[in-house]
Amino acid sequence: AKVYLNGEILDAADARISVFDRGFIFGDGIYEVMARIRGRFFYREAHMERLRTCLEKIDISLDVSSLETEILTLLSASGLEEADCLLYIQVTRGVAPRQHSYPAGIQPTVMMYAWPKTLPDINHTPVAVVLQKDFRWSRCDIKMTSLLGNVMANEFAKSHNCYETVFERDGIITEASHSNVFFVKNDVVHTHPANHLILDGITRQVVLELCKSLSIEVQLQGIPASQILEMDEAFLTGTSTQITPISTVDGKTVYPESMGPVTRRLQEAFLELKF
Ligand code: PDD
Repeated sequence: AKVYLNGEILDAADARISVFDRGFIFGDGIYEVMARIRGRFFYREAHMERLRTCLEKIDISLDVSSLETEILTLLSASGLEEADCLLYIQVTRGVAPRQHSYPAGIQPTVMMYAWPKTLPDINHTPVAVVLQKDFRWSRCDIKMTSLLGNVMANEFAKSHNCYETVFERDGIITEASHSNVFFVKNDVVHTHPANHLILDGITRQVVLELCKSLSIEVQLQGIPASQILEMDEAFLTGTSTQITPISTVDGKTVYPESMGPVTRRLQEAFLELKF
């Protein structure tokens, strides 16, 4: 596989990063994952804008627009110009002797790679999830590479034969380990507001736009964990998750085993998107 590293395209085996890179030492960096579908990136501008704002939040200075041509060079070097693929972008603060505060005058480390991946397009098979207390920090709006909390939570899901762990914080459902969570009750769509407690997923934003264009009412309000059994439908959203219905929570099948009508409408509209 080919890797883009600080201006060069390299074989992955030849790409070298210092052990003093702050991404390695502290998880001090930001990342993005973007899907390329039928020759186009899915909402590229929104992903690049989130990368820009997340870098700004942690004071890493980088001209994100300079990556645009580098991305195309990487795709062609990887032989993926025509292929459906996923692109990973990571920017860390750079290399410096270990100190907690931001060192002055260092260059960010920029790494990108892409790999072939055809998304299911639409996921008709509902998944099982488990609930867990959200033990992560309270800046989940930052798409940072320090993902240990998310990694532990996803492992918890796997050990319960589930696709996802859905987080609850102070009794309210926030998001999942690598996706956002939506509920439907009486044809109203509910999801947690985009504040510091969740990542404002691009797929989440797209689904909220779809609700608007389909005249589906939305309430940006976290659902109390005590009420999730009363909801009519639930689904997850994310770059590789797209829109995936949930059927089972903590081993109890609470939502339609095929797919609820509102989830289905959103899925159908999602397929028609021009991006
Ligand atoms: N995960 N919430 C969390 C915690 C996430 O990590 C992600 C994405 C999302 C959904 O965001 P988007 O729709 O922009 O992909 C929500 C990525 C894909 C990952 O870590 O691989």
